[in-house]
Amino acid sequence: MNGSGKSTLIKLALGLYRPLNGKVLLDGTDLADWDREALARRFGVLFQPSTNFKMTARDNIEVGVGLAPMSDEALARATELGLADEVIADLPEGYNSRLSKRFVDGIEMSGGQWKRLALARAYANPDADCVILDEPTAALDANAEAELLKRPRDGTGLIIISHRLSNLRPTDQIIMLEKGRLIEQGDHDALVEKGGAYATMFNVQAKAYR
Ligand SMILES: Nc1ncnc2c1ncn2[C@@H]1O[C@H](COP(=O)(O)OP(=O)(O)OP(=O)(O)O)[C@@H](O)[C@H]1O
Ligand SMILES: [Mg+2]
Repeated sequence: MNGSGKSTLIKLALGLYRPLNGKVLLDGTDLADWDREALARRFGVLFQPSTNFKMTARDNIEVGVGLAPMSDEALARATELGLADEVIADLPEGYNSRLSKRFVDGIEMSGGQWKRLALARAYANPDADCVILDEPTAALDANAEAELLKRPRDGTGLIIISHRLSNLRPTDQIIMLEKGRLIEQGDHDALVEKGGAYATMFNVQAKAYR
C-alpha cells in the first residue's frame, strides 16, 4: 500500500535515516558504526523519486560511484544492466551529451529515459553486493521490470519495491508491508497458498488481465 513505509525502510537499511528506536545491523555491526563510504560501496540504489542531474549522460551514471571516472567496459555494463542502451544510442553525442535545457546545447529526455539512466547509475558499481530499486515500475514499461527480475544475478542481491505482483514470481522472498509493519513474508507460491493479503491483491491484479 502507498505510505506503508517501503521507501523509509530502504533509507533506514542504507543508513540514510537513523532509527529512533532499535538499530539496523549489517554483518553484525550497527550501521551507525559503519564507515559511510564503505557502506555506500556495498550498494547500488535507485531512489524513488530518482534525481535527474543536469550534467552529461556519463556523469549521470558515474554519480553511482561518487563521480569516479568509469572505464568504457564498466560504463557499457551499467548501461546494459540499466536497460539504457537505446537511451544513450539516441543521444546526439552519446555519453557526452549534456542533459537538460539548462544547457544551450542541452537535450531534454522523457521521464522514462531519465529513469533508465538512474537505473544504470544503480548498476554503476560492479562491486556492490546488493542493488536496491525503489519502484522502477512507475516510469518503466512492464516488460522492462520483468526483465530486471528475470536476469541472472551472479551473486549480487536485488531488492525491488514493486506494485506489479505478477513480476515478483521469480523472487526468493516477498515481504509485504502495511502501515509500517511486516504483515506477510515468503515466496510467491507460499503466499498464494496462505490466502492472505498478498493472495488477495495478486488475484485482483490477475483478474484485471483476464
Ligand atoms: N522524511 C520523512 N519524515 C517524516 N515522515 C516521512 C518521511 N518520509 C515519509 N514519511 C512518512 O512515512 C510514511 C511512509 O512513507 P514511505 O515513503 O516510506 O511510504 P511507501 O511505502 O514508500 O509509499 P509509496 O508506495 O507511496 O512509495 C508516510 O506516511 C509518509 O508520510
Ligand atoms: Mg515509496
